Amino acid sequence: MEWINLAYLVASILFIYGLKGLGSPKTAVRGNRLGAVGMLVAVVATLVNKDVLSFGWIIAGMVVGGAIGAYIARTIKMTAMPEMVALLNGFGGAASMLVALSQFIITPAVFRNPTWLAALMLSALIGAVTLTGSLVAWAKLQGFAEKALKIPHQNLLRVVLSFVTVALAGLFIWQGHGFMLLLLTVSALALGVLLVIAIGGADMPVVIALLNSYSGIAAAATGFVLMNNGLIISGSLVGASGIILSKIMCKAMNRSLRSVLFGGAMVSDEQMASIPGKEFYEGKVKSCGAEEVAMLLEDARKVVIAPGYGLAVAQAQHVTQELARTLEARGAEVKFAIHPVAGRMPGHMNVLLAEAEVPYDKLIEMDAINPEFSQTDVTLVLGANDVTNPAARDDPSSPIFGMPILEVDKSKTVIVIKRSLSPGFAGIPNQLFINDNSLMLYGDAKAVLQDLIRALQEL
Ligand code: TAP
Repeated sequence: MEWINLAYLVASILFIYGLKGLGSPKTAVRGNRLGAVGMLVAVVATLVNKDVLSFGWIIAGMVVGGAIGAYIARTIKMTAMPEMVALLNGFGGAASMLVALSQFIITPAVFRNPTWLAALMLSALIGAVTLTGSLVAWAKLQGFAEKALKIPHQNLLRVVLSFVTVALAGLFIWQGHGFMLLLLTVSALALGVLLVIAIGGADMPVVIALLNSYSGIAAAATGFVLMNNGLIISGSLVGASGIILSKIMCKAMNRSLRSVLFGGAMVSDEQMASIPGKEFYEGKVKSCGAEEVAMLLEDARKVVIAPGYGLAVAQAQHVTQELARTLEARGAEVKFAIHPVAGRMPGHMNVLLAEAEVPYDKLIEMDAINPEFSQTDVTLVLGANDVTNPAARDDPSSPIFGMPILEVDKSKTVIVIKRSLSPGFAGIPNQLFINDNSLMLYGDAKAVLQDLIRALQEL
């Protein structure tokens, strides 16, 4: 059918432009819409082409599915997004697995050649791993199993189960027996649980990006089973973009994909033992009050705000924007420094600041803002810690050495706003807090910023 492939081509072009749009906050909404229209074209074309359903059913499905989707999109909290994505990945994997199993049942034995069986095997295997892996990731993010769960001999178990699964996959392609496919699916479901259960909750965002990629690869394999070009292309796009996102996140967290997948701790036991305690800061930290900082800000011409996880905890995005406007009204230039893994999910800071209507052109990515710090009068480090730690750049013995950072320490004055000297995600002290040009302003980010605005208005 010429027209169906034409429809898939149009859908694929829309997916590609959609993905390109997602590369920048300015074009992300349009990109999302393009992707959604592409999906609509692909789904309707498939259903009409295969005579699967009448138009009545297609429209009814779109209304019901669209209503559920719209409800979830409107009610879901931004902070629950990773859980939502984990579940959606799981559903994608389940769909591939179920299509593979049903195709095996309805396809007569004479049509089952080894290439088709190999595609079907991949679809069932990767789909099953994605399903249970995503459900475990979802449970961990929900807090049901926050910590890495150590099952006795888990590495050995994983290796053995991986070998069993590969052996079953080979046997299935060779013999084409339905029973082998069943065993393979059960073994892959168990493997999904075992692969993810040992990984710590904090590494879940990387795991979810990876599972997203798996769901795409499973869908592409399903495309070969069904001989559906649209599914092959869209599955490949999801597979490739998921892998790229996982790589970017690993690089920005200074973790190797291997260490995330095989449960390696962020900080090794030896490094943990050598991490200094509270004595690291003793007598070396200078703290100040909101009034002193307001006076510093009054004279500042260039101010950078470097937000981190604490911004999300305090839900201080709106008051941050209020402070930025107050400073701008006094003639200062204000920019926001965005680290790729600040917070706990990709794009966390962008999403929070967009919610507070901070203009996109004020959100400056790490590589672009770093050269500007040396000309910055005051940098406000707002609930950020690891992403500003100079040890990552200067101290080869540091567990986070090599992680790219926001070089806030190069500013004339650095004000660190956080509640205490507690460490961040990596669990290590921050050299920044004892630098000569640093001042600590203790408190919850939202309350401190409100005090700062008040103090500025009283000047
Ligand atoms: P962190 O290094 O985790 O530090 C956050 C700081 O926020 C803490 O030191 C905490 O200090 C402070 N804080 C918490 N609640 C606060 C509140 N209500 N008001 C003010 N401050 C508050 O955060 P970061 O600098 O954003 O770095 C992110 C870390 O998470 C990196 O190590 C990254 O590798 C990791 N990570 C990121 C991701 C993604 S995808 N973004 C995923 C997993 C892990 P106090 O308790 O003293 O207030």
